[in-house]
Amino acid sequence: MKALVVGSGGREHTLAWSLLRSPKITEVVCVPGNGGTATLPHCRNLAMNPGDFEGIARFALVNNLELVVVGPEQPLADGITDYLQGQGLKVFGPCQAGAQIEASKAWAKALMVEAGIPTAKAEVFTDEAAALAYLNQEGAPLVIKADGLAAGKGVTVAHTLGEATQAITDIFSGKFGAAGRQVVIEAFMTGQEASVLAVTDGKTIRPLVPAQDHKAIGEGDTGPNTGGMGAYAPTPVVTPEILERVQRLVLEPAIATLRRRGIDYRGILYAGLMITPAGEPQVVEFNCRFGDPETQAVLPLLETPLEEVMLACIEGRLETLDLQWQTGAAACVVVAAEGYPDSYPKGMDITGFEEAAATGALVFHGGTRRQGDRILADGGRVLGVTGLGDSFEGAIANAYAAIDKIRFEGMYYRRDIGYRVMGS
Ligand code: GLY
Repeated sequence: MKALVVGSGGREHTLAWSLLRSPKITEVVCVPGNGGTATLPHCRNLAMNPGDFEGIARFALVNNLELVVVGPEQPLADGITDYLQGQGLKVFGPCQAGAQIEASKAWAKALMVEAGIPTAKAEVFTDEAAALAYLNQEGAPLVIKADGLAAGKGVTVAHTLGEATQAITDIFSGKFGAAGRQVVIEAFMTGQEASVLAVTDGKTIRPLVPAQDHKAIGEGDTGPNTGGMGAYAPTPVVTPEILERVQRLVLEPAIATLRRRGIDYRGILYAGLMITPAGEPQVVEFNCRFGDPETQAVLPLLETPLEEVMLACIEGRLETLDLQWQTGAAACVVVAAEGYPDSYPKGMDITGFEEAAATGALVFHGGTRRQGDRILADGGRVLGVTGLGDSFEGAIANAYAAIDKIRFEGMYYRRDIGYRVMGS
């Protein structure tokens, strides 16, 4: 079976790699892919825009690609699944109506309230003056969210009223374009964040091993937020008891409520959670796709062939499938370009891939491109290096041993990924 992966980041390299672990998958085409997918055996890139649904459909049909996997949220929010399914293709990723769960934070919050899912109190505003009045009434800290997709930059955790006011002003002055037509102002939650990615066929929903991500650029979780600087799984913060509560209080009600609204949601439902000090899961956000870099830590532990899981979701038979997991732990450390998450250079030569792979770690490419025999940096989060081990110490040590072999000018990574779980 041949598959097509839409996207170009570390998540998509991991999806292609993971699909190719199955003997049933003979080839993966990535649209447009990166330097890693260009050099992965049995994988190739197709230089096409992920927004070109017609081109993707034509290519997939002519080349007999039987499974399409959509990585990023934007094409899902733009309706890629509906379009490709309409052309007779099998697509892993929710329909446009379902993708609203990520594409509109106000819509997601209303769904959570309807479903009785534990989450922070929030109000939605389309008017700046009303939003500012609410800030003053509530007081800091507060979380300010632009409603729509803003490449991970639309959320401000405001510790003071000044920061909150600035965030509201930025959103209503058009900093995020149409994504800022509405703003969600949410109560601040305390605890530890965790990511539970679940697969669903619209009826049954099963969590993957729970992960934690380090969003801040700096060690000790300091500095501005990024797409994620490192992740590990299965995090002990989400104990089996907490995971059971996530299943019962979050995942099942979400799918049941989507179904009640007439939305047949199939694919990944990613619950971004705050685990309160009392061990209660509360939803911070839902995403309609795999997390990045959580995927780089979660999928290497999956023993069940990924295409079997995806086809079971697409074909509505997830209930019959048990997910099998490798024991031990995985930790992904992101290696970024100097300056990320602000501006950063591109085009630096990256070396040391073979030596890094010889440590047993997996080197997933994010922002890279191939030029002849060279691999060049081409984005902010350049690589995600995943270490594996019997324990978190082993997995984390493996990731850092591999990173020691890699060189490119200005490379930056956090040296404390997984500090919360060392010793687990
Ligand atoms: N790592 C966070 C995300 O994928 O949204």
